Amino acid sequence: MEIPNNRLLPDTANINGLGHLEIGGMDVVDLAKRYKTPIYLYDEMTIRNRMREFVSSLRETYSKSKVLFAGKAFLIKRIVKITEEEGLGLDVVSGGEIYAAKEAGFPMENVYFHGNNKTMEELSFAINTGVGSIVVDNLSELKFLSSLVKRRPVNILFRLTPGVDPHTHSYINTGRVDSKFGFQLDSDDLKEAIGIVKSDTFLNFTGLHCHIGSQIFDTGFFRMASEIMAKQTVEFTRKWDLPVKELDLGGGLGIAYKPEDDPPTPKEMAVAIADPVGEICNREGIELPLLILEPGRYIVGNAGITVYTVGAIKEIPGIRKYASVDGGMADNPRPMLYQAQYTAFLANKMREHPRDVFTIAGRFCESGDILIDKAYLPRLERGDILVVSATGAYNYSMSSNYNMVPRPAVIGVKDGKEDIWVEREDYNDLVRLHR
Ligand code: LLP
Repeated sequence: MEIPNNRLLPDTANINGLGHLEIGGMDVVDLAKRYKTPIYLYDEMTIRNRMREFVSSLRETYSKSKVLFAGKAFLIKRIVKITEEEGLGLDVVSGGEIYAAKEAGFPMENVYFHGNNKTMEELSFAINTGVGSIVVDNLSELKFLSSLVKRRPVNILFRLTPGVDPHTHSYINTGRVDSKFGFQLDSDDLKEAIGIVKSDTFLNFTGLHCHIGSQIFDTGFFRMASEIMAKQTVEFTRKWDLPVKELDLGGGLGIAYKPEDDPPTPKEMAVAIADPVGEICNREGIELPLLILEPGRYIVGNAGITVYTVGAIKEIPGIRKYASVDGGMADNPRPMLYQAQYTAFLANKMREHPRDVFTIAGRFCESGDILIDKAYLPRLERGDILVVSATGAYNYSMSSNYNMVPRPAVIGVKDGKEDIWVEREDYNDLVRLHR
């Protein structure tokens, strides 16, 4: 086995003298022994590198720009801190995410609040904590918000549905016309919303937003959406006299989960998005808006790995070999939800060559709890430390306690030191709220 050079694993991944996988200068096998498994292991350097790369790629392409980290991919206090230190804003989608940001001392004016059905409590909480902007998803929400805001003006953006289908998995595809998210272009709802915003002095219209989907590999879709949104920018500014100061075109950049995956770079995404905005606004003589992007998966996806211990191994002759690990669908529901494919490594046998194909099964009571259908691995034994790469995004944040199994610890590594970012849950945590 060797370290693939396509950024599947964190930037600091290495093989040490013992033939063990090393991340952030720490021996993963040793961490597994000391902290037990499963563990979500994050390389802080990779997270910071990805944030810096994204910010500079966009800035080099388009001067008036801002990057928000999409917290839904992985929001814990430590990540909020890193986001602030690296100068990014934050995209949140719930009262809980606002609370975590506030608890971590994040500058709330740099927070954007999304969601297709924000509750009254969440909207009031956002207003009271000074959340910078609310991205209004639909007419019903706008009316509701207008009835709530009576003292200080709030900044709002409209989420539009540009009708671009990025050919990603249908569950993570949000830009099509038939989507629960956003205003349909040229709809009666949108016209009514424009009327409301123009007459309500407490609703300060700042711009437009869209997000077409996630894990996108073809930047052509970003370009199409950007063209449509740039035209809307002209229309809002000219026809409706609502200048678009901010144009937030969402996240969605894909990452590598398998060695053969070759996703575009942030620079390629930035160019695909910035070009139409620059061209169309300059041609129409409209002031360039602040261009905002909201990557989630790209920032944290390849920075995280999940570390498991191999338990039961069984062979069904002529059919397949199962190797079961001490985690599965509760810490990584993505294979079951989206047929997501992952890559495995044996952290204690990094210099041994793959000899066999295994199906990596989870420990949960469901036959569909399969993490990897075909994993090419060296000689496998009970007790081996199996790592699944690229689990940094939408794994911890979508985890559950299915089968009453406590959630794993989240451990961050940097410069040869480890730090517990989230404690491992224990049995007491599982019954803490039961009455
Ligand atoms: N902005 C908005 C408004 C979004 O809805 C999303 C993701 C993002 C930004 C960040 O997108 P990213 O850069 O991470 O692709 N649970 C699914 C992904 C759901 C994405 C939801 N929205 C998964 O595990 O693949």
